[in-house]
Amino acid sequence: MGSKHILAGVALAAGLLAGGPASAQDTIKIGLVQSMSGPLSAIGRQIMGGVNLYIQQHGNTVAGKKIEIVLKDDTAVPDMAKRLAQELIVNEKVNILGVGITPVAMAIAPLATESKTATVIMVSGTSVVTDRSPFYVRTSFTLGQQSQIIAEWALKNGSKKVVIVQSDWAPGAEATAVFTTVYTKGGGQILETIKVPLANPDFAPFLQRARDAGPDSLFVFVPAGQAGTFARQFVERGLDKSGIKLIGPGDITDDNDLPGMGDAMLGVVTAGFYSASHPSAMNKAYVAAFKKANNGLRPNFISLGGYDGMHLIYEALKKTGGKTDGEALVNAMKGMKWESPRGPISIDPETREIVQNVYIRKVEKVDGELYNTEIATFAAVKDPGKTAKK
Ligand code: PHB
Repeated sequence: MGSKHILAGVALAAGLLAGGPASAQDTIKIGLVQSMSGPLSAIGRQIMGGVNLYIQQHGNTVAGKKIEIVLKDDTAVPDMAKRLAQELIVNEKVNILGVGITPVAMAIAPLATESKTATVIMVSGTSVVTDRSPFYVRTSFTLGQQSQIIAEWALKNGSKKVVIVQSDWAPGAEATAVFTTVYTKGGGQILETIKVPLANPDFAPFLQRARDAGPDSLFVFVPAGQAGTFARQFVERGLDKSGIKLIGPGDITDDNDLPGMGDAMLGVVTAGFYSASHPSAMNKAYVAAFKKANNGLRPNFISLGGYDGMHLIYEALKKTGGKTDGEALVNAMKGMKWESPRGPISIDPETREIVQNVYIRKVEKVDGELYNTEIATFAAVKDPGKTAKK
């Protein structure tokens, strides 16, 4: 299915949002560098679903200024992202940036710092990213936040031996490191850590190796967009009938892919910060509106980084009275608290990191569809990477 169509739709929406003949001073430009095509295009689609829905619901005027979105497709290539960010800052003169995946956020950090541009990290899930620029503020998540919680849960539920299967890039390394630290400290044993390439992953041979090691549980991190493929190969290799439990951060039962994953996933337990079945009135409305605007696509955890990222930008602009000075905006963002479709969230004023609930969820069938049903809540979880450094 054509990402071209989606891109055209986004460009059109952005064009319409730019609206009438507003002068430069009346317009605030938000430059987005997101992975709209390439191996992680499922992420770009979810982020823009969140961004566009927020604008649709809250209008395109804030503090008396018109909001204009300028979207650039980094195709998940950091060098390309850096060039695009440069263009956005120098030629387009954007006032604010919204940035996606970890390698892209790492590449853009020096530019955000030099140009003093307030930048919302909407996708990246690695702790180190927000240390790279004092102008970075995160609305996504960290893998550490979720991996520590699932490690504790596994130990409490009698798990003793785990094999880790991780996608081989920065967020995978963080998921593994945090899970391993907490799990081994609590007496668990890591039998093996298996790394799977990020691009065009074939999980089958790795799954066979994992099974042969004889763990009671398999801890898996794959990024958004790969959970469906993983689940299919998990079943093809017969691991669903092996008695080995599948656990991980929420990415492995991504709401984007979950409806197509099949009953073999029933009972899989993950630690995640967002479920499409989170039982709040706000979330029910969010899911319905998102589906309506996106051909029935279910919003996943990625979409919230875009939706809440826009909220953070809008509220910060209200506080500064429309001033876009980077330091003023970042200061306005620090300590901000609000209710999101995922639950209550805030920005840690010391670290510019998102603080959010992490839920233990179990895959269940509700009205004939698979969902991550939340069964326990860990409130206001901070990024353990930052806490460890203090
Ligand atoms: C990241 O860019 O750090 C990232 C992307 C997708 C995920 C998790 C982490 O599912």
